[in-house]
Amino acid sequence: MFLPGGPKGASPGAQRKGSPVNHDFILPDEQATAALGAALGHALPARAADVTTHGLVLGLSGDLGAGKTALVRALLRALGVRGPVKSPTFALLEPYPLSSLNFYHFDFYRFGAPAEFSSAGFRDLFAPGNVCAVEWPERVGDRLPAPDLVLTFRVMDAGRHVTAAARTERGAAWLQQAIARMTRPSASTPPTPPDAA
Ligand SMILES: Nc1ncnc2c1ncn2[C@@H]1O[C@H](COP(=O)(O)OP(=O)(O)O)[C@@H](O)[C@H]1O
Ligand SMILES: [Mg+2]
Repeated sequence: MFLPGGPKGASPGAQRKGSPVNHDFILPDEQATAALGAALGHALPARAADVTTHGLVLGLSGDLGAGKTALVRALLRALGVRGPVKSPTFALLEPYPLSSLNFYHFDFYRFGAPAEFSSAGFRDLFAPGNVCAVEWPERVGDRLPAPDLVLTFRVMDAGRHVTAAARTERGAAWLQQAIARMTRPSASTPPTPPDAA
């Protein structure tokens, strides 16, 4: 299971309701990473208005093997994707057209030409109606549209430490709803009925 941390590094003003927030997650195992990804996915329908009017951008930073793709895979499963979820390490982009939104999974680890970000047509995908998850956003530099939410993965002796930093109000709302999902009892686990008398 995950252990959510408290707000971190935020000034008092940054903790006003609706303001950008940071949050630390200790993820002891792969299942905890999947739980965070699933929570972000399950929270998306409630952010439909933000997706429709602006789109959402999720930045995913951290070393190779840190768990970025594993998290996106769980996020997509929560959105109903049943087929293979491949790492876009070589293709740079895997698109997932869904009924309610278009999800684009980028991995820029092998992107050697940041100047081609726009000419390759990638810039156009950061648009209303679309959710973009971007591994290795650093490779694109300041050409990348500003992420709403950035997850930074660190490999620990066992498990992972993930710092979530919301950069916009939209990202903060998304993060807060994901946290709420992780901290309440699973909807898939119905309460135990009282014993029959
Ligand atoms: N919280 C965790 N603790 C331990 N291992 C994890 C955790 N989350 C993911 N993993 C494992 O780490 C690896 C992550 O691979 P991947 O998601 O492809 O990394 P990345 O996309 O960051 O390069 C997978 O083998 C996965 O099982
Ligand atoms: Mg990856």
